Amino acid sequence: MKISVIGTGYVGLVTGTCLAETGNEVVCVDIDENKVERMRNGEVPIYEPHLDVLFERNIKANRLQFSTSLKEGIDHGDIIFLALPTPEDEDGSADLSYVLGVSDEIGKLLSGYKVIVDKSTVPVGTAEKVRAAILKNSKFDFDVVSNPEFLREGFAVDDFLKPERIVVGSSSERATDLMKKLYKPYVRSGNPIIVMDEKSAELTKYAANSFLATKITFMNEIANYCEKVGADVDKVRIGMGTDSRIGKRFLFPGIGYGGSCFPKDVKALHKSGKEDGYDFKILESVIDVNQKQKLSLLPKIESYFDGDLKGKTFAIWGLAFKPETDDIREAPSLDIISSLLDRGAAVRAFDPEAMDNVSRRYGDRITFSTSMYDALEGADVLVICTEWSIFRTPDFNKIKNSLRYPVIFDGRNLYDLMDMEKEEITYFSIGRRDVK
Ligand code: UGA
Repeated sequence: MKISVIGTGYVGLVTGTCLAETGNEVVCVDIDENKVERMRNGEVPIYEPHLDVLFERNIKANRLQFSTSLKEGIDHGDIIFLALPTPEDEDGSADLSYVLGVSDEIGKLLSGYKVIVDKSTVPVGTAEKVRAAILKNSKFDFDVVSNPEFLREGFAVDDFLKPERIVVGSSSERATDLMKKLYKPYVRSGNPIIVMDEKSAELTKYAANSFLATKITFMNEIANYCEKVGADVDKVRIGMGTDSRIGKRFLFPGIGYGGSCFPKDVKALHKSGKEDGYDFKILESVIDVNQKQKLSLLPKIESYFDGDLKGKTFAIWGLAFKPETDDIREAPSLDIISSLLDRGAAVRAFDPEAMDNVSRRYGDRITFSTSMYDALEGADVLVICTEWSIFRTPDFNKIKNSLRYPVIFDGRNLYDLMDMEKEEITYFSIGRRDVK
């Protein structure tokens, strides 16, 4: 099939590349000339495991092409995906100016029947607005479909190629049939293509992300309570998670959720609810608790140093908001680093992928290290913010020999408490007893 993808951010790029992988002819459109040129030369503008291999293969096979011309994109595709940013407005709502701006243009450029697919995460009612914006200028027939994405950063290629489900919000049989044909190769295992109305599809995405953010936040509160009463959140987590109604996943407590999706989507659903006369009290709490959770290690750090962090040096392992990505948007590490710097401390940081992004924000206010062990040199203690696999089984002797004090503040519960006792490391984690 002929497919166009408008917008080559994270979602657009993964969508375009993975659709080319099953033999579709894909044109990806972006207004950024420089980026388009780099992509034409085979450069993947984001870090996402396995994407580079698919990218190169499909460019070589001429199935994946890039353009700065919206007209070219609209002429090419039978199905046109909108994968445009919906950033957070100052008041927490989703800014639809990109989506609606492009829809306006599409109306002028249509020259025959097309299916316009909204892939961006958008509030309920956006498909209607997109339809109205296109209709203003178009003489041709078209359909608008809502097809939210459920990709996780770090696993996006796998999530796209083998989705657990595909949600299609469509009120047109013609468009639904085309979408089913397009996605058929991806659901050979029998996973469902769930067809519903556009509004329900739009809400499904917000509801799924907000539910997962709530699940994590609930667990973070249980962890905080564990610390008060001397229970162990790891045991509670396993005890709860083995109930199949609850499930084992997304129950890991830590220093809060981050990224480009959960924080933005929870706020946007809360805001949309308000506008539509519904007060999501649970989401308000989630937003509030998560913000506090990001700094939940700080009182432990302050108490260890008797409230005086001035002149202390902190090694930080992990900057990205989660492993397998270079994304630092809303990353808890940033809140921790800023608080440490504000209190007069110095920071030596290491992350396998995200150091360039952090250095753009902090410049030489922090020192970036060449390896996880280099970050420990001259540091007083270690703080872990992201659970990259390489941090899971470190050489504890090296840690003890490099740090001034053999102390770890672990925001991701990477180590066993008994192991820390054996290693004689002072260890503070989330929702578990301190090892001193
Ligand atoms: C999330 C959803 O998982 C995807 O399904 C969705 O498509 C995507 O948002 C999106 O809307 O585009 P992502 O933001 O890539 O994906 O990251 P997750 O793996 O979901 O993690 C989000 C945050 O939750 C991370 O900060 C992670 O550290 C935290 N988390 C996750 C926990 O603190 N505990 C857990 O048990 C799981």
